[in-house]
Amino acid sequence: MPRTAIAGTGYYVPERVVTNHDLTLLMATSDEWIVERTGIRERRWVPEGMSGAEMAKRASLMALEAAGLVPADVDAIVLGTLNPDHFAPGTGVFLQRELGMAGVPAIDIRAQCSAFVYGLSIADAFIRSGQYRTILLVGVEIQSTGIDVSTRGRDIAVLFGDGAGAAVLTATEDQDRGVLSTHLHADGRFAEMLWVEFESGKHHPRITADMIHEGRHFPSMNGKEVFKHAVVRMPEAVEEALAANGLGVGDLDLVIPHQANLRITQMVQRRLGLSDAQVVSNIHKYGNTTAATIPIALAEAVREGRLERGDLLCLVAFGSGFTWGSALVRW
Ligand code: ACO
Repeated sequence: MPRTAIAGTGYYVPERVVTNHDLTLLMATSDEWIVERTGIRERRWVPEGMSGAEMAKRASLMALEAAGLVPADVDAIVLGTLNPDHFAPGTGVFLQRELGMAGVPAIDIRAQCSAFVYGLSIADAFIRSGQYRTILLVGVEIQSTGIDVSTRGRDIAVLFGDGAGAAVLTATEDQDRGVLSTHLHADGRFAEMLWVEFESGKHHPRITADMIHEGRHFPSMNGKEVFKHAVVRMPEAVEEALAANGLGVGDLDLVIPHQANLRITQMVQRRLGLSDAQVVSNIHKYGNTTAATIPIALAEAVREGRLERGDLLCLVAFGSGFTWGSALVRW
C-alpha cells in the first residue's frame, strides 16, 4: 500500500502588516494586553478585493514548485477554510479554476482550525487506497473582512489574521517515510463556543438588518472555554498519535501546533515536556490564520531547515466545533 509523502510546501501572506498599535486606532485595546494574553504582535490583512482563492493559488504554486511539479500533475484538491469566498460554491473550485485544472475534483472541508489535519487525513486515505497519487492540500483564510474591528469585537479581532498555506502530497512506495497515522475528533456539544451564527441556512430570511445591527454575523467566542479545552485536547491528540505508533514524546523531532494563541502553545508544550526547539511558533507575525496556520508554519519550518529526512513530525490542531486531531509524519 502506498504511503503519503509531503513532497512540497508553500505559503502566502498578504503584504499589509497590521500591528497591535494599528488596532488601537480602531478599538480600545493595547499592545501590552494583546502580547501578554496571546503573544501576537502583528498580523496580515488582505488588500481590498483579494480573494481566498488568489492567496491559495500563490501558496499552491510555491508548494508545487518545491515538489518539482506543475498543476497538471495534481489528481485532486482538498481545501479547508471557514471563510469561503462565497457561500457556494466552495473556494476549492475557484482555486482549481485559478490553477487551470478543469476536470480535477475539488473537495472543500469545514473543520475550521483543524481543517489542515482533517484534510491530511482525507488525502492520506485517498492516496493509500490508490484512488489518487498526487493531492494538493490547502488551508486558506480571510478573517479580516469578517471580524468586528470595533471595541465590541476586540476579544476576537486581535487574534485573527489572513493567509494561506499549501502542501503537495504524493504517493510513495517507501515505507520508511510519510504519514504514519492521523487521528480526528469532534464534539458538537461545544459548537456555539466559537461560531458564526448568521447568515444561517435554517433561518428565513437567512439574515436580517437587526441581526447585522446586533453583530450576530461576526464570529463570537467563549475564550475561556476554548482555552480550557484546547490545552487538554491538543496534548491528548499528540499522545494518541504516538501511542498508536508505539512511539513516545522523546521520539518527536518537531511539533507544529495550530497557532491559536501563544499561551495555548506554551501550555501544550509544557504538558508534553517539549523544548522550544521542538515546537514551532510563528503567531507573533501572523496571528491566528485558522485553517492556514499549520501549513504556513510547516512551509516556514521547511525553509528554516528545521526538518530533515527521517525526522518525526507531529501536526496537532484544535478549533471551532469543537474539532481536533493530530497527524504523525516521518519526514
Ligand atoms: N483588549 C483589551 N481588553 C480586552 C480585549 C482586548 N483585545 N479583549 C477583551 N478584553 C477585556 C474584556 O472585555 C475583559 O474586560 P472586563 O474585565 O472589564 O470585562 C477583560 O479584557 C478580560 O477579558 P477575558 O475574556 O476574561 O480575557 P481572558 O484573560 O480570558 O483573555 C483571550 C481572552 C485572550 C481570548 C483568552 O480567553 C484566550 O486566549 N482564549 C483562547 C481563545 C483562542 O485562542 N481563540 C482562538 C481561536 S480558537 C482556536 O484557534 C483554537
